[in-house]
Amino acid sequence: MGTMRQSQPFVDRAHPAIAGARVLVVDDDPGTCELLETMLKGLGYETVTAQSGPEALDALKDPFDVVLSDIRMGEMDGVELCEKIHAEWPGLPVVMITGFSSFETAVASLRAGAYDFLTKPVDREILAACVARAAKARQLDREIRRLKREVGGSTPIPGAVGASPAMKQVYDLVDRVAPTDASVLIHGETGTGKELVARAIHARGPRAHGPFVALNCAAVPALLLESELFGHARGAFTDAKASRDGLFVAANGGTIFLDEIGELPLELQVKLLRVLQDHRVRPLGSTHEVSFDARLITATHRDLETEVHEHRFREDLYYRINVVTIHVPPLRERGTDVLAIAQHILHQRGGPEAPSLSPSVAERLLSYEWPGNVRELENCIERALALARFDQLTVQDLPEKMHTHRAQQLVVDATSPTELVTIDELERRYIQRVLSLVGGNKTRAARILGLDRRTLYRKLEAPGEQAE
Ligand SMILES: Nc1ncnc2c1ncn2[C@@H]1O[C@H](COP(=O)(O)OP(=O)(O)OP(=O)(O)O)[C@@H](O)[C@H]1O
Ligand SMILES: [Mg+2]
Repeated sequence: MGTMRQSQPFVDRAHPAIAGARVLVVDDDPGTCELLETMLKGLGYETVTAQSGPEALDALKDPFDVVLSDIRMGEMDGVELCEKIHAEWPGLPVVMITGFSSFETAVASLRAGAYDFLTKPVDREILAACVARAAKARQLDREIRRLKREVGGSTPIPGAVGASPAMKQVYDLVDRVAPTDASVLIHGETGTGKELVARAIHARGPRAHGPFVALNCAAVPALLLESELFGHARGAFTDAKASRDGLFVAANGGTIFLDEIGELPLELQVKLLRVLQDHRVRPLGSTHEVSFDARLITATHRDLETEVHEHRFREDLYYRINVVTIHVPPLRERGTDVLAIAQHILHQRGGPEAPSLSPSVAERLLSYEWPGNVRELENCIERALALARFDQLTVQDLPEKMHTHRAQQLVVDATSPTELVTIDELERRYIQRVLSLVGGNKTRAARILGLDRRTLYRKLEAPGEQAE
């Protein structure tokens, strides 16, 4: 009968630091247990040791983040223990430790659901990297489970998911500004949800029962914009067979949303300003003015202050439309909202049977930059759903650029021996990195790399290994 030493009680913090994670060490050799325990404690982990499989299962009645288990043990070997743990606590990573490196044991333990395996004697740095990775995976797994329970949690913006501090500021502003009649300028990168914000302001404002009329100023040719916005009289131009109300009149009693306002030509900016000041429009070719009563919401991905400085946007119009600005943050600044939104999309598009996120997919989603923001994420998850073959999405279901993204960013910053690569692979990644930085220009890339073009072509053609 082995001994079980219990360290301090578990404290469930909102965001447990990996350093505070609890590790269960299982080995029938007390000396090895003690050695591993000393190393792990030195690294800042709380550890409990068990000297047999049954003892380990008993210890697991308390919460743990990682299990480190020997493979060869008496009563119940490590592979069997791993299977049992995997069945009962599916998100708990088990790292196997083998006395010798053998392909068979590695395969057996991975089949049993092991997270990783280490060989004895265990190197302190490799142990540190491996346990940190496992604890991180555990943390992500908990987060995913929590998000799953919370799916459908409502926010003040219908259709928007996320509880990051950056989004809370947006919700707060929407709450405060919606009930007023103030003009709102929404600023944010492409695909961040500007239109959702605009619709939410309308829906929660005094004109909710009126129409919401949207126009993308970048999508309509400049010549047509004026008649779209302000309407035209019959015969105002060749094709004007009948008179037509513009969008300002159509938005009467409701809200007019002008998307990509930064693209509005200067001469129309002058007209728009007058219209906003007078609350009246004069349709093209008409002698009469028509009054309207609509709230104005605008959106842009541009920095309008810069546009004003550079005389592409009129300052007076800028002040008119910008009574309140709401900045919608890019997805990369929203922390684990990425996972909440991904979960939401999975649920929405895939129903209750939808595959779930795995920690490795979650890790990719969190480290990717998302230049196309939520729209790109939607696209990525829809694609993964279409490709998924298992009940969990895998990294292979993500777009190619996300497989190599980390590799491109962190050429040699491996945190686990399994991430270490050959020199050929490193060369391949570096060449890809240089190429992407020069926008695919092979002549420039060759010059930077100190290669002649032909050598570069040859290297690009050489069948490289996949970076995953
Ligand atoms: N927080 C969010 N949660 C869930 N879905 C979101 C969220 N934000 C945006 N979306 C979805 O992302 C897509 C893009 O949103 P939206 O069209 O509002 O962005 P946008 O900023 O107006 O984009 P663009 O700059 O291209 O006009 C929509 O399908 C929207 O439903
Ligand atoms: Mg939009």
